[in-house]
Amino acid sequence: MPYILVLYYSRHGATANMAKQIGRGIEQAGMEARLRTVPAVSSVCEAVEDAIPAEGPPYVEEDDLRNCAGLALGSPTRFGNMATPLKHFIDSTSPLWMSGALIGKPGGVFCSSSSMHGGQESTLLSMMLPLMHHGMLITGLPYSETDLINTSSGGTPYGPTHVAGPDSDQPLSEEEIRLCKAFGARLATTAKKLSQ
Ligand SMILES: Cc1cc2nc3c(=O)[nH]c(=O)nc-3n(C[C@H](O)[C@H](O)[C@H](O)COP(=O)(O)O)c2cc1C
Repeated sequence: MPYILVLYYSRHGATANMAKQIGRGIEQAGMEARLRTVPAVSSVCEAVEDAIPAEGPPYVEEDDLRNCAGLALGSPTRFGNMATPLKHFIDSTSPLWMSGALIGKPGGVFCSSSSMHGGQESTLLSMMLPLMHHGMLITGLPYSETDLINTSSGGTPYGPTHVAGPDSDQPLSEEEIRLCKAFGARLATTAKKLSQ
């Protein structure tokens, strides 16, 4: 069964909440959403995480990415860029790059930041770069999603975003939820069209 991989890292749960809404959009568009995460990276390099996380979805495996019909990649904003644990995983995907496993598949990005102008767009744009190296077809959000114009928190044409607040505990706004769902649905619909 074809599925869209929703791959993310989340420390406080904000990006995880976005991933769940994107997953709902994917399933509403009639495709399976496979949520996967990545372990934190320890400053003690020898330390290893348990293979199964204490909570939340399983850690991603290379095959999850190899066999997906499309990808939603999500991260908290860290100094205007993606978080290290996600980049750490992406840097292990050379075998997929060499085999061209992701060429021609739709891929998009989403992120959460504490502050409104804390670097969401720079995070999203930089997250697109490895997807383009992999040959993915970048999928954003069109302005026919009028929440892009009316939102007073997150939401960009480069992908859905969330303003989590200084304590990273603000719930997703109605606009942010709708944009997450629209993004998931768009990825699923695009993946279906491309596989026809
Ligand atoms: C090292 C570090 C750097 C961060 N840099 C930014 C930043 O540049 N802009 C911003 O608005 N928030 C920044 N934050 C806040 C995170 O973006 C915020 O905690 C995150 O969106 C919460 O998502 P999560 O609940 O999925 O972990 C930073 C947090 C950390 C730990």
